[in-house]
Amino acid sequence: MNTYVTGNTIKQLRESRKLTQAELAEKIGVSSKTISKWETAKGLPDISLLQPLAQVLGISVIELMNGEHIINKNVSANMLRCKFYVCPICGNVMYSMGNAVISCCGVTLPPLEAEEADMDHTVTIETVEDEHFITVEHPMTKQHFISFVAFVTSDRIQLVKLYPEGNAQTRLQLRGMGYLYYYCNRHGLFKKKR
Ligand SMILES: [Fe+2]
Repeated sequence: MNTYVTGNTIKQLRESRKLTQAELAEKIGVSSKTISKWETAKGLPDISLLQPLAQVLGISVIELMNGEHIINKNVSANMLRCKFYVCPICGNVMYSMGNAVISCCGVTLPPLEAEEADMDHTVTIETVEDEHFITVEHPMTKQHFISFVAFVTSDRIQLVKLYPEGNAQTRLQLRGMGYLYYYCNRHGLFKKKR
């Protein structure tokens, strides 16, 4: 993951748009020599040029900086393949149904990879009437806690935010085949098939 646009990204995007260096230069008001310098890592575009550059290259600024152009071909994505993102700075929780470049607090967030539950992150599910009582066996201190629980099926997501010093418990309706996810602020994302 890059923290600023690279020459390679500019070159690839320019070529995919079938623009010459001179054409790109003209559109953003620099010389073709400048573009050539960027593409050969002998210089970088001034930050004030990122917006016009992104616009001409048909990409968002954040994708440009990240070097990743996101195009989701399957617009009716299956929610079972959704991705979770957690900001390590503020704890913000986000999810997407397809690929995305997601940024929070100035950090581009990688999609979290869920692991199978381990000994320190077990979950119990009790049926209570038409709902399920979910308990993660885990501390809930300010330093180490479960920050959310979610149940994802092919057509819906239920997400419950949990807070330190509260209980690592919630009620959800686990209907249909899906995955129960829960996130520990220290150990990451876990999932359990239902
Ligand atoms: Fe943990």
